Amino acid sequence: MARRRPPERDPLAGAPGAGATLGEWLGFAEALYGSEGLALGQVSADAHDEALYLILCALGLPLGSGPEVLDRRPSPRDRSALRAVLRRRVVGRTPAAYITGEAWLGGLRFLVDRRVIIPRSYFVEIIAGLRGSPARIADVCTGSGCLAILLARRFPGAAVDAIDLSGPALEVARMNVRAHRLSRRVILHRSDVFDAVPARRYDLIICNPPYEPSAVCDALAPEFLSEPRLALDGGADGLDIIRKLLRQATALLAPRGRLLIEVGGLRAAMDREFAALGLRWLPTEDGADCVCLVRGEDLRRAAQRVRS
Ligand SMILES: C[S@@+](CC[C@H](N)C(=O)[O-])C[C@H]1O[C@@H](n2cnc3c(N)ncnc32)[C@H](O)[C@@H]1O
Repeated sequence: MARRRPPERDPLAGAPGAGATLGEWLGFAEALYGSEGLALGQVSADAHDEALYLILCALGLPLGSGPEVLDRRPSPRDRSALRAVLRRRVVGRTPAAYITGEAWLGGLRFLVDRRVIIPRSYFVEIIAGLRGSPARIADVCTGSGCLAILLARRFPGAAVDAIDLSGPALEVARMNVRAHRLSRRVILHRSDVFDAVPARRYDLIICNPPYEPSAVCDALAPEFLSEPRLALDGGADGLDIIRKLLRQATALLAPRGRLLIEVGGLRAAMDREFAALGLRWLPTEDGADCVCLVRGEDLRRAAQRVRS
């Protein structure tokens, strides 16, 4: 006799009923983040903040709503919208940004979907602190185009080449560049690092490459597995794209130009392998300090030493 499958547990079975306030919905959602082991870090590192963001988006309420919004009692239609959103996040393990179709970085809104990684780069801090007036900039591994757009706004006189190997990611980047009215200054290139980009001399090159070692990518939480593998996987030791970038940038970076690379947990590996470059690590608010700076003249000096 066929055995009956046990009934599936529904994490939303205890959802607040009629008469409950949004504050109660928020408490319920926040508890689910803990009990269901949802992964954080793509939209916010904090379950309260992410759950509130999802609730406000689901009901079309302003993200800047004050605490009084939590006293509202959702209508039956609102309640089914809240249940639908929570089901996608909790049962489907869909990242919040893919549910809302947007991500915020540096106060700007970017369109996102599964074609691109969700913007969360440390470069948002670094770009805000950059000085000088670079005329030509490259953003290698541009993804959604978020950093190229932040750079173009930070340096209104600059032309920015935004480069990615992924055609689907570049479709999203194109939408963002248009939405921010920067199509004349941010030029998109489909290329493996600089392979297919016309040779130019850059004053500034930035790159937030895929830098996770492949084995780390295999074991990621479902939320991170929803992101394109190409955006995360940096090869066996995480350094594949970085090595290629450093090789190519030697000929492309102006002598006084700057190359900035975000490397996640690879700081020690970078210092070991590229000791000759005298990498400088830029401070970030949370102390991760995982963005390094290399000068054009240091790249060239190190390359000459290898040749001689
Ligand atoms: C970590 S994501 C960064 C995206 C974006 N800059 C950000 O900070 O949100 C890395 C990006 O590199 C792209 N990529 C991977 N390999 C590449 C390669 N060989 N050449 C150019 N881009 C590549 C991926 O498609 C992905 O969009």
